[in-house]
Amino acid sequence: MRKPILAGNWKMYKSFDEAVQFVEAVRDAIPSEEKVDAVVCAPAIYLPTLVDIATETDLAIGAQNMHFEDEGAFTGEISPAQLASIHVDYVILGHSERREMFNETDEAVNKKVRAALQHGIVPIICCGETLAEREAGNTVKKVEGQIRAALEGFTAEEVFHMVIAYEPIWAIGTGKTASADDANETCGEIRKVVESLYGTEAAQAIRIQYGGSVKPENIEELLAKEHIDGALVGGASLDVDSYLKLLEAGKDA
Ligand code: 13P
Repeated sequence: MRKPILAGNWKMYKSFDEAVQFVEAVRDAIPSEEKVDAVVCAPAIYLPTLVDIATETDLAIGAQNMHFEDEGAFTGEISPAQLASIHVDYVILGHSERREMFNETDEAVNKKVRAALQHGIVPIICCGETLAEREAGNTVKKVEGQIRAALEGFTAEEVFHMVIAYEPIWAIGTGKTASADDANETCGEIRKVVESLYGTEAAQAIRIQYGGSVKPENIEELLAKEHIDGALVGGASLDVDSYLKLLEAGKDA
């Protein structure tokens, strides 16, 4: 039985005050960590403050990206060592917005996954197809390629500590959700890829989230599916009530 993981991806939203108010409002209402993992991935400049506010609660704080090098002349970048030094628990890697707008490659994602694990940060590895790829029947081919590349060169033991997020690009921020059956089918295909690379135990242990217009109204149906172990949520994670409803659904899944 895999524990559900619900992660908010705030993207480039919220002022500092709004971010602080959100975490103060939710931190004591988070269901126990035994039932669901609750994560908020916030803009990098807010992370130290949010980590402080969430200390000793069941809310974990994550970043939305990072470089793969520990240090160096990389103006504007943030390193895994720096994130670890402020006790960030999670990092989203290879989000489609970073792949599409900031030229993030499969190779860079693979290096980032390695760097995250080396620093004890749980990587949330994103994959997903465009509408054109889906319509051409290439969904599995696309996500399989992304996952094979991201997971290349690890041990089965390392794979246990990873989270994968399947986010069809056409469903992100559009209000269009993949049907629960379609999402489950693709998450199942991803699990098969993990199995072919690292064996049954790793494939059964790794958690696979669905992302793309997840909201309180559709989360239960998604989480009821065999291969969907949580959600990576953009818009609906920005509001306190909505975020807490998502967690409640996760707790009961
Ligand atoms: P929405 O939930 O706003 O569709 O965003 C999904 C997403 O990109 C999460 O990473």
